[in-house]
Amino acid sequence: MLDKASFLNALVQGRKAGHSLNAQFYTSPDIFAADMDAIFSRHWIYVGVEPDVPEPGDVMTVDIGPSSILIVRDDDNGVKAFHNVCRHRGARLIDAEKTTVGNLVCRYHSWTYNLEGDLVHAPHMGADFDRSCKGLKPVNLRSLEGLLFICLSDDPPDDFDDMAARMGPYIAPHKVRDTKIAYQSDLIEMGNWKLTLENNRECYHCEANHPELTVPLFAYGFGFAPEEMDPIDLENAQRYEALRQTSHAEWEAMGLPSREIEELDSRVTGFRTERLPLDGNGESHTMDTRAACRIPLGALTNAKLGGLSFWTQPNSWHHFLGDHIVTFSVLPLDAGRTLVRTKWLVNKQAVEGVDYDLANLIEVWTATNSQDAALVEMCQRGAENPAYEPGPYSPNTEMLVEKFVRWYIGRMAEHSGA
Ligand code: FES
Ligand code: FE
Repeated sequence: MLDKASFLNALVQGRKAGHSLNAQFYTSPDIFAADMDAIFSRHWIYVGVEPDVPEPGDVMTVDIGPSSILIVRDDDNGVKAFHNVCRHRGARLIDAEKTTVGNLVCRYHSWTYNLEGDLVHAPHMGADFDRSCKGLKPVNLRSLEGLLFICLSDDPPDDFDDMAARMGPYIAPHKVRDTKIAYQSDLIEMGNWKLTLENNRECYHCEANHPELTVPLFAYGFGFAPEEMDPIDLENAQRYEALRQTSHAEWEAMGLPSREIEELDSRVTGFRTERLPLDGNGESHTMDTRAACRIPLGALTNAKLGGLSFWTQPNSWHHFLGDHIVTFSVLPLDAGRTLVRTKWLVNKQAVEGVDYDLANLIEVWTATNSQDAALVEMCQRGAENPAYEPGPYSPNTEMLVEKFVRWYIGRMAEHSGA
């Protein structure tokens, strides 16, 4: 009988390149625990946006496995993160996902922390009690132009600033900090978090499963095998490629960085970006491919800006349109369940029912999320079947799935010493 470390090492070393993972990676509680330790406790995890806590005293809680984290807007308008654990006897300080406070007060014995996390009041502790060493435990937090990432480790990956320097110019024009959250959905997918990520990293499944998403997205952006295409398809694909090139040149001339950066499996904080043209009217991820919100984001004036996508490893993807942003955070719950938290952001001046229709704004991604949840559940059930064996990824359409899995295996190998 192998011990847990040897079991994991053998699976990591035995991974067959270009193939989906061994079933235990999706089903085993031991591997899930290793994922939470090696991946979710030691990498930069995307948790939300600055507009989640727009004003001083606003607090958001985020749960990552057994950890609960407070994201707090302080009196100096900074955003800080703390462990949501009282330093007296450990009670969870804040239960609500969102609230607004003057101070952070534990309701058990009224220990009180200011928005900087300092313990400012602890009744009946005696004259010798030193409050200064009982402040809330800080959690590393970074804001990438308003996108919030936390790292539970005291020694976080040091490549975040490099990612922020390279990604900042892409995201900045969309002015995340000047948005409001028009809508949030919390969807529990009945599958392992890696199936959620694998499903996100390809659009091989889009044509057969996403009738709404394929309205704004060009099919030729999904990847294809040229030898399987007829002359008309090939010509359309060439036309799409020419459009991609000219769009990049036009957008970059407007000061909007658009060309691909691909670093999904070449660094600890893996990421990728590219701004791509959209089909139809080319404006937004909506059913009529026009902007859903009358007020554009930031100082953007041209509606035809395509869609800027940003993917991070291990747990996020984002789409920046000219009129709104859709941002996704993947938070594992257990080996077979994953929370996908989606937020739709619009200019904070926009008024629902006047400047945008909420149903129109969220239609494409609400439908797509629900379709993806069903696909992830199908794969989880498949992985639980003794007949499952790792299957080959398409070299033409699932390259980014392979990069995600290669990244994951590399991170697990480094952590376990495999
Ligand atoms: Fe928080 Fe006692 S546990 S004040
Ligand atoms: Fe999908």
